[in-house]
Amino acid sequence: MPKITVSDRIEHLLELNRAAELGGGMQRMDRQKAEGKLTARERLALLLDKDSFEELDKFVTHRCLDFGMQEQRYPGDGVVSGHGRIDGRLVYVFAQDFTVFGGSLSETNAQKICKIMDLAMKVGAPVIGLNDSGGARIQEGVVSLAGYADIFLRNTVASGVIPQLSAIMGPCAGGAVYSPAITDFIVMVDKTSYMFVTGPDVIKTVTHEEVTKEELGGAMTHNSTSGVAHFIAHNDEECLLLLRELFSFVPSNNLEEPPRRPANDPWDRVEESLNSIVPAESNVPYDMKDIIHAVVDANYFFEVQEHYAKNLVIGFARLDGRPVGIVANQPAYLAGCLDIAGSIKGARFVRFCDAFNIPLVTFEDVPGFLPGTNQEFGGIIKHGAKLLFAFAEATVPKLTVITRKAYGGAYCVMASKHIRTDINFAYPTAEIAVMGPEGAVNIIYRRELAAANDVDKVREERVEEFREKFANPYIAAERGFIDEIIEPKNTRKKLVTALRMLDTKRDTTPPKKHGNIPL
Ligand code: HXC
Repeated sequence: MPKITVSDRIEHLLELNRAAELGGGMQRMDRQKAEGKLTARERLALLLDKDSFEELDKFVTHRCLDFGMQEQRYPGDGVVSGHGRIDGRLVYVFAQDFTVFGGSLSETNAQKICKIMDLAMKVGAPVIGLNDSGGARIQEGVVSLAGYADIFLRNTVASGVIPQLSAIMGPCAGGAVYSPAITDFIVMVDKTSYMFVTGPDVIKTVTHEEVTKEELGGAMTHNSTSGVAHFIAHNDEECLLLLRELFSFVPSNNLEEPPRRPANDPWDRVEESLNSIVPAESNVPYDMKDIIHAVVDANYFFEVQEHYAKNLVIGFARLDGRPVGIVANQPAYLAGCLDIAGSIKGARFVRFCDAFNIPLVTFEDVPGFLPGTNQEFGGIIKHGAKLLFAFAEATVPKLTVITRKAYGGAYCVMASKHIRTDINFAYPTAEIAVMGPEGAVNIIYRRELAAANDVDKVREERVEEFREKFANPYIAAERGFIDEIIEPKNTRKKLVTALRMLDTKRDTTPPKKHGNIPL
């Protein structure tokens, strides 16, 4: 028998590596490509800095002996996992490989995912999961379900400790949706990704509804209707670039500050256009994003959930090179009213920013909560309370700019001074009151209006009187609820100065197991 040399052994290793890199084989890879999808390894190469990926568990295989599975073993077992760098920063990653048993979750590939999550928690680095999976590996039964539950537990324990980002880059059915749902952000690829708990066939059997995969759980459905997803990408490449961009705003863990960048924009830039964005008439809409863009570094605003609850705008930007989370009412949509969807959207974002030391900047123009039976029956009380709870609980630096309306409960909710916002600014156009002049006059002058000969004239006079007296920022400023009434053109300078002043802010809540946010 010829002696096995070291180079033979090395060649054997290289062969095994090549086999693992082939996933489920060329035919299945070609099918993946034909569907407009990249392979798991191509995805990781695009997501991570060049040559930074270090793979773990490349030779792991499944242990299933049923259904002829012992004849079908693929090294890696349907998930590529390890660590790498994004902009030089450490990140743990896994990418499900649809070419191996449809990327389905087996006992052993769940263990691979758990291994990198455990490392990420020990080291304090984010986890990014690229999901492309037919769900639980059917041949494995309960051990596959157990694998899911092991991941869910880790997602939950890691929540608020390390950022967890998910991309949905193929089907994501059954239990496969719950791990991404627990993570902080979900990006979906348009037309090639789906998320649902039960698919169209089951729905047809149970409820007799006919619905396509796309309508039920496509990227736009979850970006605009359900609010499950936060971003939509047109293809895999865009999705991976978007994840890199999102990553640049978040710290590696809850004990770190988010990464700062050189600002490339004068911190004290005066923006004349801001003096004329808010219209003189209080019922004329304008686009709050114009104000946000004008204020932030390089006019760059990275919007989150752009297509969902458009009455509340959320997203990341930088001020003086420092990442901030922006929450803003949008008067151009539903007049900027707070509703169920907007409250939930805002609350989750505020909690993310607070968990990860990202200061919050709130731009406020809100006529109140959206009235109606739909909203009341849907539980606007408890959902609106989520946003209130989230803002009140947040201890990161908090800044508010009231551009126009701050009425009623919504005044309290939107990071008012009373729920420990550090600096509250208002424009001279701000109207801070219990409600708008028309509504207020109808209530407090009801009897006088009923008795009046010329109701319209009396109402108009009273409305004008109310507007003069109450629909302004000065009464709140007299009480110290507004720290400063500012000229809009100076907004950037004022916000940056306040942020710098708050750089070493420390604030706490009493020790407790956790609060009980109204879910
Ligand atoms: C094992 C699977 C699989 C699975 C797909 N495959 N899903 N193998 N377990 N769950 C395999 C297929 O046999 C096939 O193998 C290959 O992956 C590609 O699948 P296709 O059906 O040919 O692809 P496509 O037409 O694109 O359809 C993809 C799909 C469909 C929509 C994902 O495969 C599908 O519906 N799969 C089952 C989804 C499902 O019900 N999963 C269980 C959910 S329950 P070959 O050898 O031909 O390449 C669940 C419970 C978890 O997840 C609960 C935790 C709380």
